[in-house]
Formats: sequence, structure tokens, C-alpha cells
Amino acid sequence: MKKLLQITLVALVAAMTLTSCAKEPAGLKDAYKKYFMIGVAVNPRNVSVPEQMELVKANFNSMTCENVMKPGEIHPAEGVWKFEEADKVADFCRENGIKLRGHCLVWHSQFANWMFYDSEQNPVSKEVFYERLKEHITTVVNRYKDVIYAWDVVNEAMSDDPDAEDPYRPSRLYQLCGDEFIAKAFQFAHEADPNAILFYNDYNECDPAKSDKIYNMVKKMQDAGVPITGIGMQGHYNAYEPSEDQINAAIEKYSKIVSHIHVTELDVRVNREMGGRLRFSTEGEEISPEVEQRFNDQYAMIFRAFRNHKDVIDCVTFWNLADADSWLGARNYPLLFDKDFQPKAAYSIVKDFKKNKE
Ligand code: GLA
Repeated sequence: MKKLLQITLVALVAAMTLTSCAKEPAGLKDAYKKYFMIGVAVNPRNVSVPEQMELVKANFNSMTCENVMKPGEIHPAEGVWKFEEADKVADFCRENGIKLRGHCLVWHSQFANWMFYDSEQNPVSKEVFYERLKEHITTVVNRYKDVIYAWDVVNEAMSDDPDAEDPYRPSRLYQLCGDEFIAKAFQFAHEADPNAILFYNDYNECDPAKSDKIYNMVKKMQDAGVPITGIGMQGHYNAYEPSEDQINAAIEKYSKIVSHIHVTELDVRVNREMGGRLRFSTEGEEISPEVEQRFNDQYAMIFRAFRNHKDVIDCVTFWNLADADSWLGARNYPLLFDKDFQPKAAYSIVKDFKKNKE
């Protein structure tokens, strides 16, 4: 009888161990804890809905403000600061031990364009512009220094045009300052927080021609002593492109010059658009099983490529929590949570990669 009891007990313990081994990791961040952090970009609506923030807590250990830290939003006019929404996200991160990425300090779009003009609307000199930029960067970086560990310092300064002789985007910033504005921005950010990892961030970053431009610019700046310590691969992809080889090649290229790569704005459209173009999908409400299969396979491949480079990738951030929030529109089906904040099949494909033997 005693023996029987012992055997039963051993069998019970074995069964329990087996079940707990077979249990899938709770959230995305748990599944990837030996690889990299998993981040999410949030908007003020997300922050005000407790259920959505529970989803964030369960799945993500890094956050980015989608818009509210951009220069034009947080500093819309000289002497006018709008910190409220950004503060809410920073406080949420502080309270929940979540890391915060700062996005972004200099960008040609959603920029604080007042910095370019005086009170009579005449263009200011480069020197005046730099004074204003320095004040902007110093104020924002100092305010969130305790919780922001990485900043997208300069966003999208390179041109997409494969035929252009000049590799830089012909923005107002570039017209006024040449590429010196990049050096100045990194210098100001570094002075404000010498411990932060400072990123150059761009899209179409797996395109061979664009990735050469990004690489050459970062290398040139670093050779001149500019403190660029990370490259942000935005990761606005689609269900067809980029290929695994293109992703691998881009990561390997960038890792020659930086030891921190963050995927900063990941989403996967179901049409063939890519990168920063703001064109919305014309696909129907329901996507076909074939397209969904492509989408699932693309997500599985993308994460396999990222896992294979865990030595240099520290963080992979989704650009928005659910399709309901996406800048691409829910019809573009770009994220792992759907228009009702429910996980899609791709969620388990990405999370349970061990079981799926990816
Ligand atoms: C770019 C920017 C982001 C965001 C997206 C669209 O990629 O870096 O801040 O504006 O476009 O949401």
C-alpha cells in the first residue's frame, strides 16, 4: 500500500513537472527575456484605458510615446511646453518598472518649426537655431533622465531617392545647417545625459542603397567624434518584404559600427507598401487566408532573424499596441493584436517560437 502511494506520488510530481514545462511563457516579454526587450508605442488613449495598460504590462518591458515627445508636440512654440501626456507615460513606466525609449529629438516632420523663424517670421541664423535646439534637447532629456535610457536623437535624415547625388534628405534642417545639425543634436543630447544610448533612427533600413547611406553617415559622424551609439531600424515592413537575407545583411552591416541596435517601430502591412509612406491600405475589411498566412510567415521569419542577432539587438518595439491604434489603419492588419485588442494567430507564432520550432 505504502509502495503504491509512493508510486502514485512520484507519477503525480512527474505529471506536474511535465505540465509546467509545457506551459507557454506568459507574455511576449517573458518569451523573449533571454533575447531582447519587447517594446510598444502608446498613445494617450491607451494610457487612459486600464485594460489596455494591463495588456501592456503583461507583454512589454519597454515603451515609447508614439507622438507626445516629438518636438512639435511637446514644445509647440517658444517658451510653451506640453509635458502632461508625456509625463503620464513616464510615470506609468516609473511605477511599473518598464523602460522608456525617448522618441524623438530632431525630425523634419512634426518638428518645432518655430525654431527656424524670429518673431517677424524671418528665418533665423544657424547659430540662433542651434541655441534653440540646445535648449529644447537639454530640457527634454533632463526631465526624463531618470526613466529614459535611450533616445532617438535624429530621425530620418537620409534620402530615399536612389538617384539623388546627395545622400541627405533635403529638409529645412539640412538646408539651414548641412549635416552639422546631426552632429550638434547628438552632442547636445550627450551633454544632457552622458549615460543614455543615442540612436540614429530611420526606415527602409534594410534596403541595400538606403542602408549604405545610413552606414556611411553614422561612420562619418563617429569618425569625427559624434557620440552615436545605436542605430534604430524602424521596421515598417510588409508581408512580402524585406527578405530574411536583407534583414540579416542590414543588421550585420550596422553591427560593424554600433553595439546597440533597436528595432524601433515594427509593423507588417498586408499590402506591398513599405517604410514611411503614409498611404492607407485599400484591402478589404477581411483579409484572405492566403494573405494571413503570408503575414504569419513574415512575422515568424522576422523574429527568427532578430533572435539570431540577439547579441546586438537589445529591444524590438511594435509601433502601437493593436491594429485599432495603428497609424496604418486597422485594414492594414499590421500588429499582433487586432482591432478589438485581441491576440491574432501571429501573436502565438511570435511568442511560442520554441513550441513552433522556429
Ligand atoms: C515615423 C516616425 C514615427 C511615426 C511614424 C508613423 O516612422 O518615426 O514617430 O510618426 O513615422 O506613426
